Amino acid sequence: MSVFSPIMSATADLQRRHSGLRERYCLDTTPLLQRQMERESNARSYPRRIPLELKRAQGIYVEDSRGQVYIDCLAGAGTLALGHNHPVTVEAIQRALSSGVPLHTLDLSTPIKDAFVQTLFDLLPSDFAKNARIQFCGPSGADAVEAAIKLSRTALGQQTILSFHGAYHGMTLGTLSLSGNLGPKKSLGGLLAGVQFLPYPYSYRCPFGLSGEQSIDAGLHYIRHLLSDPESGITQPAAMILETVQGEGGVIPAPERWLQGLRNITQEHGITLILDEIQCGIGRTGDLFAFEQSGITPDVITLDPRPSAAVCRSR
Ligand SMILES: Cc1ncc(COP(=O)(O)O)c(C=O)c1O
Repeated sequence: MSVFSPIMSATADLQRRHSGLRERYCLDTTPLLQRQMERESNARSYPRRIPLELKRAQGIYVEDSRGQVYIDCLAGAGTLALGHNHPVTVEAIQRALSSGVPLHTLDLSTPIKDAFVQTLFDLLPSDFAKNARIQFCGPSGADAVEAAIKLSRTALGQQTILSFHGAYHGMTLGTLSLSGNLGPKKSLGGLLAGVQFLPYPYSYRCPFGLSGEQSIDAGLHYIRHLLSDPESGITQPAAMILETVQGEGGVIPAPERWLQGLRNITQEHGITLILDEIQCGIGRTGDLFAFEQSGITPDVITLDPRPSAAVCRSR
């Protein structure tokens, strides 16, 4: 029997029970959900709309404590690229835990970390990797974005950051300042100063009332104009940050021609181009990194291989 056999049979069981379910799902509250509501803060997001008590998962399936099986379209906000409990992932974690490796070394190196860095650099586009450095941040994606912003501001001695309508970069004060959705930030105050929002080419939200190629052209023209007009009110930016595919904003891929245009503009104006690939990187779009299809080379990439990382290259 291979290590895969029990996993395959667990998946087959969940699949059979999911497709065999003919009755309506029961979503009545449970004592556990009541306790969650009483004890956890109102800042919890998904449980307020999806009242589920999940006890088991395999592959794409999750099962609640009533035995009802669902396809998990959340997949940990896209972090479970191999699904729940993939045998390769489970085996690697078990092997590491039983091998006596130190459980915490701050940022001192270990053979596992060294192997990880080697592998990541081998996978990065060679143009980017040849002069790149990696910074391991905290456990969250927002930590990587914060690091990328601090790095750009420090390196260039400028404050202004260009971000995009519909962007999502995290829930810290700094990353909320760079995010489009007003809900979580409108009553906060004290957000980062110097953030300028620009239009992301999306036909349903185009501020110019255009779509397709025209929307791309208008957006690029607008940005060029802002950066070269001495009356635009925007001081020299340290960085431009964007998601190669906007995730929380609606899963909107950036058109290749637009990305190439942004790369030209940022190069012409000496602006650090940060691509936030926390949700769309590491194989989720077909290539390992979503920006590869456009052929551009960014200056900084934020990634989320847990702990998160900012990888930058020197120009
Ligand atoms: C593009 C992007 N950047 C940053 C973040 C923040 O990551 P975290 O929730 O781990 O802080 C997210 C999270 O969904 C994201 O989608």
